[in-house]
Amino acid sequence: MNARRAVFLREMGCTLWRQRPEPSVHGENENAPSPEEQSAQCVAMPEEINAAPAQPSPPNAEAVSPAIARQAGIARMDWPGLAAAVRDCRACVLCQRRKQAVLGVGDPDADWLFIGEGPGAEEDARGEPFVGQAGKLLDAMLASIGLKRGENVYIANAVKCRPEGNRTPHHEEMETCRPFLRRQIALVRPKLIVLLGKAAVRSVLGEERALAAMRKKRFQYESVPVLVTYHPAYLLRNLPDKAKAWEDLCFARRIFREIG
Ligand code: URA
Repeated sequence: MNARRAVFLREMGCTLWRQRPEPSVHGENENAPSPEEQSAQCVAMPEEINAAPAQPSPPNAEAVSPAIARQAGIARMDWPGLAAAVRDCRACVLCQRRKQAVLGVGDPDADWLFIGEGPGAEEDARGEPFVGQAGKLLDAMLASIGLKRGENVYIANAVKCRPEGNRTPHHEEMETCRPFLRRQIALVRPKLIVLLGKAAVRSVLGEERALAAMRKKRFQYESVPVLVTYHPAYLLRNLPDKAKAWEDLCFARRIFREIG
């Protein structure tokens, strides 16, 4: 392990770990799956695949609902159009108290896409995702697997406007914002998506299962492999779970190498 990586791991609270040649993704827990079980889990089992919700049908009749027409319009946007639409969006109550909408940040052609929940106060003020304390941890998490914000990495959120008091976005708010996220995914065309926390999981996979039950499994959004890990803000409150997040990141890196 080089000195720089050791510093990042220390920041993540992971100083005791040494990366083995074949990274262990199941830690020291003897109940953890064996490598064979692990690779079996990595094969998308039918019940683990969450086919993305069907694309809205093209608006071919005058009678399409405004929601469908909106989705279809967003699905055709390029980056500047999407940025403008997000900036001006007034489709849900979250627009009322935001300072600004926060689209995303990073390499628009990135292989890696990380998706969080929604902007907090600092993100709302600065217009960039994950710039507060959780963002610092996310940067350290990225660095621990050799990634860097903006370099082959794009970061987005399930909702683009800050929910007041940093509450979890409501289901309808995520639904309303989802066409924007779907368009971002389509424009970035990542090789791998990493979902940070339950809101992102719900928005992208439509899953309500506990995150612990979904870690270290491979899901799919359209044809893109999707993995799940804890949200950095959760990790700041639950330090022991950083070890699990490290396992998840090692798993993500392994899957990324496999898909080449
Ligand atoms: N938490 C998130 O989910 N996203 C951010 O951008 C910041 C904090």
